[in-house]
Amino acid sequence: MSDYRIAVIPGDGIGPEIMDEALRTLEKAGSVFGHSFSFTKLLMGGAAYDAVGTCFPEQTVPVCRSHDAVLLGAVGGPKWDALPGPERPEKALLKIREGLGLYANLRPAIMHKALAGACPIKPENVGDSMDLLIVRELTGGIYFGEHGWRDGKFGPEAYDVERYSETEIRRIAHVAFKAAMARKKSLVSVDKANVLETSRLWRRVVSEVSAEYPEVSLSHMYVDNAAMQLVYRPGQFDVILTSNMFGDILSDEASMITGSLGMLPSASLSDGSFGLYEPSHGSAPDIAGKGIANPIATILSASMMLRYSLSLAKEADAIDYAVESVLNSGMRTADIAEPGTSAISTAAMGEAIRARL
Ligand code: IPM
Ligand code: MG
Repeated sequence: MSDYRIAVIPGDGIGPEIMDEALRTLEKAGSVFGHSFSFTKLLMGGAAYDAVGTCFPEQTVPVCRSHDAVLLGAVGGPKWDALPGPERPEKALLKIREGLGLYANLRPAIMHKALAGACPIKPENVGDSMDLLIVRELTGGIYFGEHGWRDGKFGPEAYDVERYSETEIRRIAHVAFKAAMARKKSLVSVDKANVLETSRLWRRVVSEVSAEYPEVSLSHMYVDNAAMQLVYRPGQFDVILTSNMFGDILSDEASMITGSLGMLPSASLSDGSFGLYEPSHGSAPDIAGKGIANPIATILSASMMLRYSLSLAKEADAIDYAVESVLNSGMRTADIAEPGTSAISTAAMGEAIRARL
C-alpha cells in the first residue's frame, strides 16, 4: 500500500467546494485500489490575503516541493480586485508556477459524446469528435516579461514585454512533440510570426526541434487564424503548441467548444514527475457558496495528477471512466444541463462519480 502526500490549495470562490469533491474522489479511488493520500492544505490567493495579509505566503513553494504533487482549486475574485497588480491573487498563481518551475501546461479539451448538445458548433463541423491537447508554455512570455508604468509621448502609459529565449521554446517544444508522438502525430504550432519577433524565434526553434521527431507532422498557424479555425473546424486539431498568452486564450475557447469551462482539467509540469493540477476555469465568484459549481474539471485534474505525477494510470482511467459514465447517465450540473432539464448539485455530481468507481 502506497501513501501519497498531496499539497492542496483550495483557493477562492468555488475553489473549496470543487476541491472537496476532488479530494473525496481521490480517497474513494485510494480505498478501491489500495492507496492512501494525505492532504496538506495551504492558503494562497485571496483566502491567504484575508488570513495572513499576503496572497502568496513565503512557505508556499517549499511546502509544495516537499509533497508528491499539488492540487489547486482556483484563486481570485472581485473582493481583491482593488489590490495593486503585484499583490493580486492572480500574481500568486504566476509565482507558484514560476517558483515550482512548471513551464509545461497541458490542457486537454475533449468533447464527451453525451455533451454534444452543449457544443455551440454545428455537429458537421466538429467532425467525429473533438479531442485535442493544448500545450501552453507557462513560465515565460508576456506574463513574465518586464511590466511597468512610465511617462510616454502621450502622457502616462503602461507596458508588458513579451520575451522568449531559445531554451524556453525548445523545452516546451519537446513536451509538445512527445505528446504528439503518443497521440496522432500531428502538431500545430501557433504564433504570430507575421508581426512578432518572439514568434519568429518560436517558429524557428520549433522547426529545428521537429527534426528530432520525423514522424510528427508539424504545421504553423497564426493565432488569429487558429482562433477562427477552432470554431470553424475544431476536429482538425490534435496537439496545439503555443505561448503563454495565446495558450491562455485558446484554451478558454477550446473549453467552450466542449460544452463548458467547467469540464477542462489541466496539468502544469516541470522536468520530473512533480506537477500542479488545477481546473482551467477560474473561481466563478458569482456562483460561489451555492453548491452548484461543476466539480468535473477538478476531479479530472486529480485524475491527471494520478497519471502524470504518481504513475497511477489504472486509477486515473477509473476516474475518467466514472466521469464518462455519469455524463452518459444524463446527470448534469447547471453549466452543462440543457435548457429546461434539471441540474444536480456539486456534491451530488461528486457522489455520482464516486459511486461508479
Ligand atoms: C488560467 C488563468 C490564469 C492565467 C489567470 C488567473 C492568471 O486564466 O490559468 O488560464 O492567465 O494563466
Ligand atoms: Mg485562462
